[in-house]
Amino acid sequence: MNFELSEEQIAVRDAARDFAQNVLKPGVIERDNEQRFPKEEIKQLAELGFMGMMVDPKYGGSGMDTVSYVLAMEEISKIDASASVCMSVNNSLVCWGIETFGTEEQKEKYLRPLATGEKIGAFCLSEPEAGSDATMQRTTAIDKGDHYLVNGTKNWITNGSTASIYLVIAQTNAEAGHKGINCLIVERDTEGFVVGAKEDKLGIRGSDTHTLMFQDMKVPKENRLGEDGFGFKFAMKTLSGGRIGIAAQALGIASGAYEFAKAYSKERVTFGKPIHEHQAVAFKLADMATEIEAARLLCLKAAQLKDAGENYDMASSMAKLFASKVAMDTSVEAVQVHGGYGFVKEYHVERLMRDAKITQIYEGTSEIQKIVISRTILKD
Ligand code: CAA
Repeated sequence: MNFELSEEQIAVRDAARDFAQNVLKPGVIERDNEQRFPKEEIKQLAELGFMGMMVDPKYGGSGMDTVSYVLAMEEISKIDASASVCMSVNNSLVCWGIETFGTEEQKEKYLRPLATGEKIGAFCLSEPEAGSDATMQRTTAIDKGDHYLVNGTKNWITNGSTASIYLVIAQTNAEAGHKGINCLIVERDTEGFVVGAKEDKLGIRGSDTHTLMFQDMKVPKENRLGEDGFGFKFAMKTLSGGRIGIAAQALGIASGAYEFAKAYSKERVTFGKPIHEHQAVAFKLADMATEIEAARLLCLKAAQLKDAGENYDMASSMAKLFASKVAMDTSVEAVQVHGGYGFVKEYHVERLMRDAKITQIYEGTSEIQKIVISRTILKD
């Protein structure tokens, strides 16, 4: 593995860092308190080309590699994980899914506005009874000849009310199990599409998480992604890449918390010296730096495998499993380094600690990642 970054990758990382530090940081605490979606900031991210980073420029994307995407996700997530989850879902689930499996017409109509950031996408798999066990889809898409009639409820949908293009996973033929599931591209203004309640969350409070309801919603047949019955595999393949994005988000939360803790340890004086001169704090920082470096290498490895066209299913699960644990551990320790200041909202580390938890849950819990990894290592 070659982990030397190209000039282009360094430029992407630096642009993301500048944006996070100068544009996202000033309002992030307020947005978190008010549960306010970073609408203007996402628009600016789109202008930088960060909403369709890996999409072919012929569809309005930036044509960058997955390594660049990981670098950008880390920098944005150091400050604002609510902005970065919007970016991640749009890039690695919705854009990638349509670009990889869509028809030319679907790409022209839907991928282009998503890649330029003119529109935002959402990925609708989870249901009240289908979280980890994603085959248990209760949402139905009944084949009516020229269209599907869709009924059901989706839960915890990121970008739920700000998106205008939704990838909806639904059961067409219950007897066929996972082979009877389809993925449909749904436009927000379709009759029967209802945006339900917004979730009041522990973390990523600036992100826009909603329940969605579909009531006798007619979706044209040409909006199906892939062959009839491909929806479950579509979701699995898409989530595999999505996990690289969430691993990079977790990495960013960890490195953000570490950087705040390191800076604070140089300012704060106790017992006559800056606290980083106490081994109790210096050793914490050493552990954080080491674990973050290991998480970064796993993220870059998964990204490189994807860029090389090799299988990355296990690598992305390993990166997500490990980086999300590092995000949790590091952010808890960063609060500890800050002492009482770490427990109040004017310091960033308490938010990062709350944000870290979701990285062990969405796009597959840590236990799901262990299923993917153990099945792979034990199959021969
Ligand atoms: N690529 C291609 N095909 C795959 C695949 C992959 N990565 N993983 C599984 N499949 C295929 C299998 O080969 C199998 O096909 P065949 O029957 O033809 O052989 C089929 O899919 C079923 O596979 P499994 O038997 O392995 O399925 P399973 O029911 O045991 O589940 C699982 C596997 C890994 C546990 C899966 O259910 C899973 O990933 N669950 C978690 C779902 C998840 O991540 N949800 C997150 C919600 S989205 C979100 O959070 C977005 C957001 O808003 C932030």
